[in-house]
Amino acid sequence: MDKNTLPAFKKFVNDLRKIWSENTDDGDRMKRAHLLMENELLVDPALREHCKNWPSTEGRKNLLFYTDPNYGFVINGVVRVPGRTGSVHDHADGWVLYGLLDGTESLERFRAVESRKEDGYVKVELVSDTKGEAGKADLVPPYDIHAEQGSKVRSVAVILRSRVLVGEVMQGRYNRDTGEYYEGSGPEQIPYQLTA
Ligand SMILES: [Fe+2]
Repeated sequence: MDKNTLPAFKKFVNDLRKIWSENTDDGDRMKRAHLLMENELLVDPALREHCKNWPSTEGRKNLLFYTDPNYGFVINGVVRVPGRTGSVHDHADGWVLYGLLDGTESLERFRAVESRKEDGYVKVELVSDTKGEAGKADLVPPYDIHAEQGSKVRSVAVILRSRVLVGEVMQGRYNRDTGEYYEGSGPEQIPYQLTA
């Protein structure tokens, strides 16, 4: 990591590596990471200031901050413009921790009421719609069907993924109106340094 990397981010990565070394189950690791992210990373004033200048990730992109060379977890950023609507998807077998750093979003969860993936059909139904506020992280288990919706203001999130998804695994995508289901690759990864 660059020597000018923001101290809170450097500490977050080191603490995650410790968590990964002490636990073998991804669910346990991500639950511990959830506390760490909310208690230390999302409250860091330097990071909160830094994120005001991150570029927009419109057009299905993610900023790529870090991929761990030993444990394979990945840390991304996403910057939504005001009024951004999000599509319904899952993250295949990866766990994803979605932490809001700035602005507000709504986090929708769905359940499959009828599933025939082989025919490209999964009918989904909205089960909850939670307001996400800066400082809070949402833990999304493997195959959970969900969508993140922007709000009237720009919003920024830090995302921890338990494994590399893009380029390695296809993720489910759902049309909430028609029930159409297909699989596709995740967002384009744009390398971005969190340096002071
Ligand atoms: Fe997601």
